[in-house]
Amino acid sequence: MHSRIASLILLHALVGVVVAQSLTIYSGRGEALVQPLVEQFTAETGIEVSIRYGGTAELAVLILEEGRASPADVYWGQDAGALGALSQAGRLMQLPTDLTAGLPGIYTSRGGLWIATSGRARVLAYSPERVDLDRWPASIFDLAGAAYAGRVGWAPTNGSFQANVTAMRMVHGEDATETWLRDMLANDVQAYRNNTTLVEAIAAGEIDFALTNNYYLLRFLVNDPGFPVAQAFFDDGDIGNLVNVAGAGIVDTSRNLEAAQRFLAYLLETDSQSYFTDEVYEYPVVPGVTPNERLVSYAALLGASPDVDLDVLEDLEGTLELLREVGLL
Ligand SMILES: [Fe+2]
Repeated sequence: MHSRIASLILLHALVGVVVAQSLTIYSGRGEALVQPLVEQFTAETGIEVSIRYGGTAELAVLILEEGRASPADVYWGQDAGALGALSQAGRLMQLPTDLTAGLPGIYTSRGGLWIATSGRARVLAYSPERVDLDRWPASIFDLAGAAYAGRVGWAPTNGSFQANVTAMRMVHGEDATETWLRDMLANDVQAYRNNTTLVEAIAAGEIDFALTNNYYLLRFLVNDPGFPVAQAFFDDGDIGNLVNVAGAGIVDTSRNLEAAQRFLAYLLETDSQSYFTDEVYEYPVVPGVTPNERLVSYAALLGASPDVDLDVLEDLEGTLELLREVGLL
């Protein structure tokens, strides 16, 4: 009798696997970007997708809080630090090697627990009218110098800025990072709400330089080719040129493994990769997909980027503590 019930349950479970191809995604990426892509995925595969949108860090924390009861199959965020935090907590599943193979070194989790889906770079935006390129700063550390007093803007509450500070702590140490933050404040650095207002502030003449991500200026230039802001990297390898990623992983408690793997593979397909670079000016992670013509070349990006293991960016808490300590948050 018991074995009969057991086999009925087993049969039910098997039918469930075949019939109920569905997927729940927690997305720190915005709805405008994600929705068209997911609709296409459902059209191609028949897999129904439900999506919970939120902040990249916030959704990673939610998965940790939900524990084994989390309904999330896939986590997709726009900061390697949040992916690192989930990896560290054992909440991401080992991915099949055919998913991770072929991704360039700056775009992989060394543990094989997540894949980058696109790359974004930190840059220094500037006013071509007011900045003398012959005296371009070699390093982000130079911005604490007298030549930049009152001329630089940053966005301390922004996740990409915070990831950059985390990378600085990991590569240059706590003391050097704290000193730089305090020196910047003493140098009258201007704080802005986000990356968009930073770029606008250069155009408005409020500041001459801004620490931002590569794609914000490109959005302005599409609408106004004469927009009076430009951007460039620091010297090759400088921590101010950090290349961060948007990336995705499969939550360890997922019961829809096959659908989750199909979705991750779908994000690496040529069409998806072209969509990211064409729509939001990020770098493709798959060789052979041409970056948007407004981006600097892939070779230039690889040359500029510092050698940072993206898996070490998980200590956001330590960065927030430091930013609070120096009075930035
Ligand atoms: Fe952004």
